[in-house]
Amino acid sequence: MQIKVQSGDISAFRADAIVVNLFEGVTSPGGGTGAVDQAMGGAISQLIEAGDIRGKSGEFTLIHSLGKVPAPRVVVAGLGKSSEFSVDKVRALSGDLARYLRRQRLKNVAVITHGAGIAGLPAEDCAAAIAEGTLLGLYRFLRHKKAEEDGELESLTLVEHDASKMPTLERGVERGRILAEATNFCRDLANEPSNYLTPTEMADRAKDLAAEAGLQCEIYGPGWMSEKGMGGVLGVAAGSDQEPRFIVLRYNGAGDARPLALVGKGITFDTGGISIKPAAGMEEMKGDMSGGASVIAAMSAIAKLRPRVNVIGIVPATENMPGGSAIKPGDVLKTMSGKTIEVINTDAEGRLILSDGLAYAREQGASAIVDIATLTGAISVALGNVAMGAMTNDAALLDRVKKAAEAAGEKVWELPMYEEYKEQIRSEVADMKNTGGRGAGSITAAMLLREFVDDTPWVHLDIAGVDTYDREKGVIVKGASGIPVRTLVNLALQSAESAPAK
Ligand code: BES
Ligand code: MN
Ligand code: ZN
Repeated sequence: MQIKVQSGDISAFRADAIVVNLFEGVTSPGGGTGAVDQAMGGAISQLIEAGDIRGKSGEFTLIHSLGKVPAPRVVVAGLGKSSEFSVDKVRALSGDLARYLRRQRLKNVAVITHGAGIAGLPAEDCAAAIAEGTLLGLYRFLRHKKAEEDGELESLTLVEHDASKMPTLERGVERGRILAEATNFCRDLANEPSNYLTPTEMADRAKDLAAEAGLQCEIYGPGWMSEKGMGGVLGVAAGSDQEPRFIVLRYNGAGDARPLALVGKGITFDTGGISIKPAAGMEEMKGDMSGGASVIAAMSAIAKLRPRVNVIGIVPATENMPGGSAIKPGDVLKTMSGKTIEVINTDAEGRLILSDGLAYAREQGASAIVDIATLTGAISVALGNVAMGAMTNDAALLDRVKKAAEAAGEKVWELPMYEEYKEQIRSEVADMKNTGGRGAGSITAAMLLREFVDDTPWVHLDIAGVDTYDREKGVIVKGASGIPVRTLVNLALQSAESAPAK
């Protein structure tokens, strides 16, 4: 789908529909909406007066223009209360609007730049939010079924009357498109069933994406992993007929500076292993690689946006299966770092593979590490599907992650890492055990990960509550969410801005 920017008067624009907007409580519209209202002989203000248009958030009103303007339809999008308006609202509105337009079977539509007019938000950010919201909101996973009958929205044109704003809007649209396309790539991987998306296939897709984006890509197999002593990944992979892959992507934008490392959990299917999961809902575990997918996707967007920073993306990918050679409760694994883990529950496999991913990040000289994982069911007990959980050994790095998330409209909430929790993963036979008993399941998982980053500033993002949704709203659609791709990209962009000039 195309998102374009054009200068001119929206009321004179030829399209299947032109979209203007209205804040709640406004009785005589100004700006682009006012211009269209005038051209329509006051039709919009009459509908406001009649109480048919109220400007409520999520309200879309379609008016037939009956020849008063070139476009046959005018859509008035409610913006809600002006006091509560934000770039995030523009993004969400654009997602809802795009699906509304598609349901109306419209193909080519023009909009004004919501937020950049009377609301006074930065025009570039608004344009980015419109592009992002539209492309994210329209996403559907149609690889294995026919397209539904409502067709596709083909183009959205931002029509701006002030020609001097064009370059700003174009820059915004470009950034929004790159962020949304990366997020949708992550969604494609996470939605893909595990019989298609094996570890090998995940690596192949990473490789193709890397080639397209201009990233360095290295794919390693089990032989290399044994040389490296990666007993965590190899242990989890032992029960599967599918070979594991260790995916490394490198973006170089800052010479020989130490890289930011993004480490993602890549379990292409999590049966639980010998500690097998209950059947109900197990199909959701095809998405247990969404942390890894978010890393691959974010790396591609970073490569396209070219910030002055070095970033390395690391994804250990494997299935977690029961099998004749699977690891069993009580087994001890020796990880790349040399530290040993007693496996109490083979379903706590994410931390086993991440132990090697994190050790590799350290070996590569990472200056900071962010890991992303669908690690614990406990995180959705704590935070529901609203926020991802964050745990850290470095408050300043977490602040940066929070800022990056806020700009993306994604939510991060910190859980504590008190030393007392470490007691729960003490093992009699190994350096630690892989589960910490009943309480604080998300935190004890993070306590184990912390053992592998030592003093490198590190943030762990547990996305198990937010990686999939069963409803659509704003930029969220059914299935994989692609969270936190945009947070990760923003983090790289912001790191480049704050890096000392060389
Ligand atoms: N992949 C799961 C976590 C998960 C659960 C993600 C639900 C998305 C939705 C993880 O590997 C897992 O099984 N964790 C266990 C840990 C337990 C055995 C200590 C869990 O949360 O139950
Ligand atoms: Mn598991
Ligand atoms: Zn898992």
